[in-house]
Amino acid sequence: MRKRLECIASKIPDGVGMIDVGTDHAYLPVAMALRGYRGNLLASDIGEGPLAVARRHAEDAEAGERIRFLRCDGLDLCPPADVDCIVIAGMGGDTITGILDRAEFCMDARYLLILQPMTRAEVLRYWLVYNEFAIVEEDIVEDGGILYPVLCARFGGKTRLKDAELYTGSFAMLKEHPLFQRIWEIQTRRFHKMYDALKRSGAGDEDGRLALCGQICRELEEMMPYDESPRNL
Ligand SMILES: C[S@@+](CC[C@H](N)C(=O)[O-])C[C@H]1O[C@@H](n2cnc3c(N)ncnc32)[C@H](O)[C@@H]1O
Repeated sequence: MRKRLECIASKIPDGVGMIDVGTDHAYLPVAMALRGYRGNLLASDIGEGPLAVARRHAEDAEAGERIRFLRCDGLDLCPPADVDCIVIAGMGGDTITGILDRAEFCMDARYLLILQPMTRAEVLRYWLVYNEFAIVEEDIVEDGGILYPVLCARFGGKTRLKDAELYTGSFAMLKEHPLFQRIWEIQTRRFHKMYDALKRSGAGDEDGRLALCGQICRELEEMMPYDESPRNL
């Protein structure tokens, strides 16, 4: 299994059961079955094509009997009592947010959410914080030269994040992570570029984007005040 999915698998606790939303090939639930996970194993996908591939892969691996396949949008057909861990990986942060927003049952501390957005992680972090989920773990995994954020969250409790941390992930949780500096560099370059472009456009700042961009650049500098940090704004 790929490193990205290995990282997710390593965070799934033993328990009542897990659902892999948007399972595609069902790599994750098949691996969990073969590794002796004892809880329920559910796999959902919105597409009939991916589900057919998932079923075939599970049967080939002799894990077909262990996995319940659901064709549905997100968590729509997930029986809440059958799981205590929800994995949503390999989709955009806005798609993940939409799935969680419709599944009110996951607003309960009994569910551990393991979320791996491919894009727009900031939308997902904002949604979690705004809806009173605690981000209990942040991780970064490198797979095929790409850095992927992996977040674990549980309803109840508070996580406070600065605007810059919506993009980088929680600094308190990631500052010792060996890949954090690269995430920081990517976001620092991105926001300095955006700030310069907005400033050059001379369009003023009626919508507050320039000010927000400047603030994020400053927060990034405070996070990681390297000697070679970008010039002051
Ligand atoms: C790129 S694959 C990711 C597969 C796997 N989760 C992973 O991380 O490698 C995305 C899968 O999510 C499914 N998907 C997209 N939107 C979905 C939704 N709203 N509900 C369920 N599945 C969805 C797609 O059909 C596709 O099989």
